[in-house]
Amino acid sequence: MGCQYFEVCEHGAETFTVAMPKLTFGRGCLSEAGPRFASRGIKKVALFTDSYLRDSEYVNTVRTSLIQSGMDVTTFSDIRIEPDDTSVMNGARFLNSDQFDGVVSVGGGSVIDTAKAAMIYALFPADFNDYFAPPIGLGKPIPGPLLPHLACPTTSGTGSECTSVSVVRINSLNTKFVLGSPHLLPVEALVDPSVCDTLPSNVVSSTGFDLLCHAIECYTAKAYTKWQKVTDPTARTFLQGANPWSDLAASKALEIAGKYLVRGVADNADTEARDQLMWGATLAGMAFGNSGTHLPHAMSYGVTHLMNDITTKDYEVKSPFVPHGLSVIVSAPAIFRHIAEGAPLRHMEAANYLGADSKGGTVDESGEIIAKRIIELMQQTGAPNGLSGVGFDESHVNALSDSSARQKRAIANTPKETNLTDIQNIYRDAIRYW
Ligand SMILES: [Fe+2]
Repeated sequence: MGCQYFEVCEHGAETFTVAMPKLTFGRGCLSEAGPRFASRGIKKVALFTDSYLRDSEYVNTVRTSLIQSGMDVTTFSDIRIEPDDTSVMNGARFLNSDQFDGVVSVGGGSVIDTAKAAMIYALFPADFNDYFAPPIGLGKPIPGPLLPHLACPTTSGTGSECTSVSVVRINSLNTKFVLGSPHLLPVEALVDPSVCDTLPSNVVSSTGFDLLCHAIECYTAKAYTKWQKVTDPTARTFLQGANPWSDLAASKALEIAGKYLVRGVADNADTEARDQLMWGATLAGMAFGNSGTHLPHAMSYGVTHLMNDITTKDYEVKSPFVPHGLSVIVSAPAIFRHIAEGAPLRHMEAANYLGADSKGGTVDESGEIIAKRIIELMQQTGAPNGLSGVGFDESHVNALSDSSARQKRAIANTPKETNLTDIQNIYRDAIRYW
C-alpha cells in the first residue's frame, strides 16, 4: 500500500518521533517515588491529588516515600473530575505560592491533567485560551520546559502519564479542549496496578473503554507519512499519525482489552485481569501519546458538552456527568462502520487483536466486524446502549455534531476524510445498537 510507513508520500513526513517518560511498572512501585525524585535533586514537591484520594493509602505511600527521601511536600487536592479553567488556575496559584522545584501527581486523568496545565499557567501566565489550538485559542506554543513531573495513575485508562496533552474544560465555552506540547510530558511515571484492586466496576468499565478506544484509534489513524512534512523538528506534534511504534503498543493493548476487560469489570478480586488492564492502559498511552487519537475521541467532546441530567453509578460526581471512557465508546461502533473503508485492512487487524470472530468475513466488512465486537463488549460490561443510553436522541444530532466538529486536528487524523454531514450521520447511527 502506498504511503504506508516507510513508503513516503509526496510532501509527506519521512520521520516519526517517540517520546516517553521513564516508566516503572509493577505492584508496590509507588514507594519508589522518593528515591526516584530525590535522585533528580528535587527538594520541594507540590503533590497534586483529589479530595477522594487525599487520605488514601496510595497518596500516603507516595507522600511518605518523598518525605523519607528528604523532600518537603505540600499537597493540593482542590481538583475536580474533568478539570476546568477555574480548577487549573487554582492549581497555578498554588504552584506560585512557594518555591516548588518538582510536581508529583497521584490520581486519574483529571489529576494528572490538572498538574500539567497548572504548571503552564504558573510558569508562563497568559490569557487562558492562548495556548489552545484555533478556532478556540491562538495556538501559542508553550514557551519552555515545565517543572519535573512524576505521574502516578490510579485508574487503568487515561494513559496521561505517557502523553504530552492535558484535557481541560473551558467554562465559558462549556466544553473540553486539548492543550498539547512536548513540555507537558512527565519525566517519570510510576504505574502500580495494585491501585486498581479497589476500583468499582463502572470505573474499570469506563476507563477500560477509554484504553480500548485509544488503542483502536492509534492503530487505525492516518499514517504519519500522510501528514505534511514538518521541516522544523521541534514543531512536530505528538499527533503525528499511526507509526510502527504506536502499532506495537496499540496491538498489544487491544489483545489485553479483548481478553481481560469483561473479567476485570465482573470481578474486583480478579487481580490478573486488573493488572493486565493497567498494563494495557499504559501501552495504549504510550501509543496514543505518539500518534494521536481520532474520531471517537473528537466525537466524545460533543457528548460531554451537551450532557444533561445524567450521572453514572460508582462516580461521586454531581449530574450532569458521563465518564470520559463512556462518552467515547457510545459512538465508537457507528464511527468504525463509517470510516473503516478508509483503512479496511487496519480495521480487520484491530478487530482480530480485540478477539473478534472474523471467520468468513472479508476485509471490506471490517467496519461491521469491529463494531460487532465492541458492541459485544459493551453488552457484557453493562455499558450504555449508544447515545440513547446517556440521554440523547435524534433531536440532539445537529448540536452534537456542531460541537464536535471543532476538534479539527483529531478529525484530520481519521483514516477517511470526514465532514460535518458524515459526523451527523454517524451520531444518528449511534443512537442505539441493540
Ligand atoms: Fe481518552
